[in-house]
Amino acid sequence: MRIAIAGATGLVGSSLARAAEAAGHQVVPLAKETGFDILRPDGLVEALEGADAVVDVMQSPTLDEAEATAFFTEASRNLGTAAAQAGVGRSVVLSIIGVDRIAATDEEAGTGFDGYYRAKYAQEQATAAHAPSPHVVRSTQFHDIARQAIGWGRDGDRTVVPDLVTQPVAVDAMVQVLLGVATGEIAGDLNEVGGPGRESLTAMSTAFARSTGDTVEVTAGPVGDLVRDGVLLPGEGAHLVGPSFAEWLAGVAAATAAR
Ligand SMILES: NC(=O)c1ccc[n+]([C@@H]2O[C@H](COP(=O)([O-])OP(=O)(O)OC[C@H]3O[C@@H](n4cnc5c(N)ncnc54)[C@H](OP(=O)(O)O)[C@@H]3O)[C@@H](O)[C@H]2O)c1
Repeated sequence: MRIAIAGATGLVGSSLARAAEAAGHQVVPLAKETGFDILRPDGLVEALEGADAVVDVMQSPTLDEAEATAFFTEASRNLGTAAAQAGVGRSVVLSIIGVDRIAATDEEAGTGFDGYYRAKYAQEQATAAHAPSPHVVRSTQFHDIARQAIGWGRDGDRTVVPDLVTQPVAVDAMVQVLLGVATGEIAGDLNEVGGPGRESLTAMSTAFARSTGDTVEVTAGPVGDLVRDGVLLPGEGAHLVGPSFAEWLAGVAAATAAR
């Protein structure tokens, strides 16, 4: 198959491109770096012609709710409209588990990024409105959130990490589900994907810091009722794919030691 990937140069996009090529598919990489700014979509229809599927794994330049909403809705409209004009058979957008419930309430979920989650839900809606044969894959957080979270509230040798209840997933495993939905091997308009085990983000960040020799003191930050109730966790029927966080972390530690 010919699969266009919007965001092909990013963390998820490059993993998806490797997986698609390894499975024998042809990839059309779309990113500013490859000459396609989806916000200025000149030449996009031509680039998408002949593609069987398009997968949107773009990221907004900011996590601010208003700016991210504006980016995702415009990018999804441009990509979806161009895909429809080009006759692309199938569209897939990567989203996050829980965005629908967080968008449906004014209650603070306490993820630390509630506004961004609402923007991701707006992206799903814009894809549904404009893209041909739209499919949504909602993922849990990636294992690397353990590293990122250390920096969110860091002040010297102390940091506060919101005690999110999550079921983190490895990017390279998650993209196999994205690919399956893009090819049609995985059925359903909405699929969820997560890792094999439930974790506390505070504990994950502590373990990450220790495994890399960082002595930062990690304190649990508050979260809202929605997070405590499991809004970020995969539901019944989700694709649960390994490795576990501990296995992933062992790999990171081994790679760090080998350097
Ligand atoms: N991190 C998580 O735990 C998690 C969990 C679930 C879902 N996700 C979702 O995964 C998606 C991808 O994340 P990521 O970490 O792979 O992001 P990333 O590494 O920042 O990559 C973003 C990609 O988007 C492209 N892009 C940005 N603006 C563009 C534009 N105007 N036109 C064309 N391409 C553009 C970038 O390429 P250029 O800069 O070259 O344009 C890059 O290829 C996000 O939507 C995120 O919400 C993340």
